[in-house]
Amino acid sequence: MNSGCVGVALLLGAALPSQAQGGGGLFGTSGHGSTQTGVNRMSALYGRGECGHCHEQHAGQDADTTLYPYALFGSEENVCWACHNGSTTYAADARLPFSSTPVNTTTDYYKHPVSQLFSGTTPSAHRAGESAPTSFSGGKRHVECTDCHDPHASANTGTPGVSVHQPGGTTGNRMGPALRGTMGIKVTAWQSAGSPFSSAAYSLVRLTDPTTSYEWQVCFKCHSSFTTLPTFAAVGSGNYLANKLTSTNARQIKEYQDVGQALNPNNLSYHPVTAQGQNTAMIAGSFVSPWSRTSTLCCSDCHTKGVGSAGAAGPHGSSYMHLLERPYYLRENTHYRDNSWGRNIGQDPNELCFKCHRWQTYVQKQSDPSTNTWFRKGTDNLHTKHMGDDAPGTTCYTCHDIHGTNKQHLINFNLDYVTVTVNSQAAYTHNSNGGSCSLTCHGKQHNPIAYTR
Ligand code: HEC
Ligand code: HEC
Ligand code: HEC
Ligand code: HEC
Ligand code: HEC
Ligand code: HEC
Ligand code: HEC
Repeated sequence: MNSGCVGVALLLGAALPSQAQGGGGLFGTSGHGSTQTGVNRMSALYGRGECGHCHEQHAGQDADTTLYPYALFGSEENVCWACHNGSTTYAADARLPFSSTPVNTTTDYYKHPVSQLFSGTTPSAHRAGESAPTSFSGGKRHVECTDCHDPHASANTGTPGVSVHQPGGTTGNRMGPALRGTMGIKVTAWQSAGSPFSSAAYSLVRLTDPTTSYEWQVCFKCHSSFTTLPTFAAVGSGNYLANKLTSTNARQIKEYQDVGQALNPNNLSYHPVTAQGQNTAMIAGSFVSPWSRTSTLCCSDCHTKGVGSAGAAGPHGSSYMHLLERPYYLRENTHYRDNSWGRNIGQDPNELCFKCHRWQTYVQKQSDPSTNTWFRKGTDNLHTKHMGDDAPGTTCYTCHDIHGTNKQHLINFNLDYVTVTVNSQAAYTHNSNGGSCSLTCHGKQHNPIAYTR
């Protein structure tokens, strides 16, 4: 440890966190602590990578002060944005995804609200070292850069400035080194299928090694029943209304707002975030490279800055609702019939699902073998039949949930469009060579209609 660091430790009067120790600690191998790539705000005073570029002698020293805590030169995200403003050649502009319009409303989320708090006072309730579930709920519900990044440990992949995860492949759910050192959830025993977490099943651990840590571990601090989730529902609006979360129809099985419950690998189906999926028999030709039926995913494969937009990658902010990389139409509308790219014209509509699942397989069958999907009757592709031929307004959300459900194939019908006599999941029955549906959809009776491959 160099003298600057000792000075900071003395100044803060705090025990030096292990990840902030120079030399052997994580700081020495972090992007910020490196003598080659590290922080360099006041080069005349300190060498590159020293603590003093962020911690200043004359700044506030009280962890609870509302202004400039931890002897930092600024407060909260402003510390980070002082450098991550697009002016350095190393790291991407981390202001853009947060500053862009559209803005958040109480139901519509496009970005993590690092500059606002839902209830309580500003600045945010974030405290270094917070670990109690109650730190993330009620009046203390908050999110800051330092809830997902540890500035003393975040690292690059070995190439300066490259710190994001490697997508695709069986280890595609490992976190990017940008998250190294952050606190995350360790699940010691997954609950039985369909259940939320129980307090006995988790612990908080510091994620010091990106090769054995997963991005979801960070997200579960605030998006699982580790904490108490907000009672308000962030459901979206317009074509992006996730009404299966809040429907009052007694037969509608709700989507889990608890993402931990949804992604429990004991469930009958889930997107492969916490483990490989339940349907690794999917047909190989139905995927877009580098994704495959054995891939695992990071949340940020779906939740990240808008496709093609500038700025730091990650679940910071997006121009698309639900902080998604691409639009995902939840309400039925006529978009698959639109002549500009509908069933007559084979243009990928840039909807989220088609980042990984072939548009040709699911909507536009003309250029694709019909046997690329299991949802078929003989060789009659029932996906394209439902979305491309017979009912061009249908969206994936009419039949599927997104994160996970305790029903095969993520099936959960949207009862805004489908009428059932049982419930929105029991109306579908899966069997080894097909399935059947008992429902009425847009006046078409299925009582039941079965498909056999
Ligand atoms: C004094 C300037 C400065 C400040 C303040 C700063 N950073 Fe950085 N940050 C950098 C530089 C330079 C790099 C590039 C390091 C590299 O090339 O690996 C970087 C890289 C990163 C990375 C990617 C990891 C890496 O090694 O590339 C993350 C994540 C990050 N910073 C987050 C933050 C957060 C969060 C804050 C606020 C708590 C913050 N930074 C404050 C200068 C700064
Ligand atoms: C890139 C900016 C940056 C650099 C460089 C940096 N820190 Fe920090 N440090 C922070 C931020 C931001 C916080 C507040 C963390 C939070 O709010 O969770 C912090 C908090 C702390 C704390 C108190 C909270 C805790 O984690 O226990 C100590 C002690 C500390 N830093 C020591 C150091 C030392 C020693 C060094 C150099 C080896 C150093 N820091 C380098 C940004 C930095
Ligand atoms: C909700 C969690 C979360 C918050 C809050 C957050 N980040 Fe990130 N950030 C991530 C994740 C996850 C990644 C890595 C994405 C990946 O692996 O693809 C990332 C990546 C980054 C990178 C590297 C991006 C690149 O393109 O190389 C920087 C720089 C960064 N974050 C800075 C910040 C700053 C500054 C803030 C606060 C203003 C912040 N982050 C807030 C989760 C977060
Ligand atoms: C395969 C893509 C995909 C992955 C992977 C994914 N999400 Fe989502 N997520 C979506 C889509 C699409 C929506 C909006 C539709 C909906 O809510 O049904 C959404 C909605 C959300 C919402 C708001 C609605 C709700 O359910 O509360 C949160 C919070 C969320 N995701 C968090 C996460 C977290 C945390 C992870 C990783 C642990 C994750 N997501 C992984 C696609 C994904
Ligand atoms: C420290 C707490 C915290 C952490 C950690 C966190 N989030 Fe969030 N997230 C929030 C808050 C606060 C909101 C605003 C809505 C709310 O309160 O649920 C939010 C909103 C979201 C939304 C928008 C939800 C919607 O309704 O459209 C998505 C998507 C999301 N987060 C994904 C993630 C992912 C992915 C991660 C992990 C990389 C993550 N979050 C980590 C606190 C957190
Ligand atoms: C980032 C890539 C990615 C995105 C985006 C994505 N998926 Fe997937 N999806 C996968 C992978 C990988 C699997 C394989 C999981 C398995 O083995 O069960 C999968 C599996 C599925 C399954 C089958 C699950 C089962 O158990 O049978 C359905 C249904 C599905 N996805 C629907 C969707 C929908 C709808 C969207 C858009 C909202 C979407 N996916 C977006 C990667 C993705
Ligand atoms: C009319 C209801 C319906 C709609 C709409 C629908 N699906 Fe499916 N999907 C199913 C059924 C039923 C299965 C289960 C097939 C089986 O394995 O027997 C399925 C299976 C899947 C699978 C697993 C692999 C496969 O092809 O069998 C994926 C991936 C998938 N759907 C993606 C999508 C996407 C993406 C959309 C929107 C573009 C979509 N689905 C729209 C009913 C639907």
